[in-house]
Amino acid sequence: MNTLSGKHILLGVTGGIAAYKSAELVRCLRKQGAVVRVVMTTAAQEFITPLTLQALSGQPVCSDLLDPRSEAAMGHIELARWADALLVAPATADFIARLVQGRADDLLAAVCLACEAPLAVAPAMNRAMWQQPATQDNLALLRARRVNVLGPATGSQACGETGPGRMLEPDELTRLLAGLFQGGALAGRRVLVTAGPTREPIDPVRYISNRSSGKMGYAIARAAAEAGAQVTLVTGPVALVLPEQVDGILVETAEQMHAAVMEHIADTDIFIAAAAVADYRPQSVARKKLKKSAAGITLALEPNPDILAAVAALPEPPFTLGFAAETDALEANARKKLRAKSLDMIAANVVGPGRGFEVDDNALRVFWDGGEQQFGQTRKTRLARQLVALLAHRYQTKFDKDRVIKLHAKDSA
Ligand code: PMT
Repeated sequence: MNTLSGKHILLGVTGGIAAYKSAELVRCLRKQGAVVRVVMTTAAQEFITPLTLQALSGQPVCSDLLDPRSEAAMGHIELARWADALLVAPATADFIARLVQGRADDLLAAVCLACEAPLAVAPAMNRAMWQQPATQDNLALLRARRVNVLGPATGSQACGETGPGRMLEPDELTRLLAGLFQGGALAGRRVLVTAGPTREPIDPVRYISNRSSGKMGYAIARAAAEAGAQVTLVTGPVALVLPEQVDGILVETAEQMHAAVMEHIADTDIFIAAAAVADYRPQSVARKKLKKSAAGITLALEPNPDILAAVAALPEPPFTLGFAAETDALEANARKKLRAKSLDMIAANVVGPGRGFEVDDNALRVFWDGGEQQFGQTRKTRLARQLVALLAHRYQTKFDKDRVIKLHAKDSA
């Protein structure tokens, strides 16, 4: 059955050029069986008329906070109670900032504040406005408050520029909104994934790196998002496009990856380390390009931080899934890493020419304390879904066990 069928979807429309897509969005939602009501800001009405949205939704459109026609003149409370989910699309930078502040000075802001149903926003703005630290900080706050941030997409914009900030297309928004009701295996969980290689600079033009393409980590990030998780992907330099439902943080060196992970780890439920992090970096980085020398050169290397070990050693660590890339003694080496880093699980793969790194296929042996599961050679996209299903199961098992232990501790206190 369609998960949107019969659901009450409250659509908030704010004042951006993407408001014209709201008409199509209402149509898509209704096509999936949703009952749609629309709340518009004053600015939104400059871009599309309430009459259009009223005709398409079959419901009166609301925009006044103090509407004497509403029962007991408390329209915002009634609308908030009516909604099974609230989607603001488009959500302008200004509206996002106001949402962060918890304002209630117009009907839409007041409904968002009063609504206990899942809230989703579909940002739409110029790419420079999107990239501003103020906007990014605001979005980070919203995510931390479990607001679902859908998109934006990257592409050509109404202002003539190209970049991130386009509102997702109505059919994509409809699909993602339906996902909120699907209750996937990782629904409501926050997952942080590392992927790709790191680059450790030697001089302004040279670096030490490895063959990781990011394919395995990106496939895992996508599979986790498909399973309902809110996913952040910290990625080294790769030639892949970020999956649309995933927040990406681009880094280059191991130290940058370490810093990005530590910054986002606090509200993470599950950490997956698929990146091939360079274990060492040059002790010093030459400011100018090193000259060729007939005598050869010696590079002094120093160790990089072990990101996975640092996460697992936190006082309240998330559930940790590490990887082990091995050329020999796969099980022994993987189990050693599982114990040494105090991980919940480790996924081991054989690497070498044409294996593990770069290629589209892979095979995994997954180990945890007291168990093991093998996944045979298949596409990394499929393998990622199999791994995420196992991870969700192991995570739930640990979660349930911890809850029982806490209950016992409470009873005997
Ligand atoms: O990117 P692809 O081309 O698709 O290739 C996929 C892959 C082979 C890179 C991937 O499947 C994989 O094995 N990733 C982990 C590679 C690795 O660095 O393994 P390791 O055994 O050296 O490290 C053990 C674990 O510690 C890994 O989870 C690694 O992310 C983590 N680590 C290692 C060093 C470090 N300084 N910090 C870390 O977090």
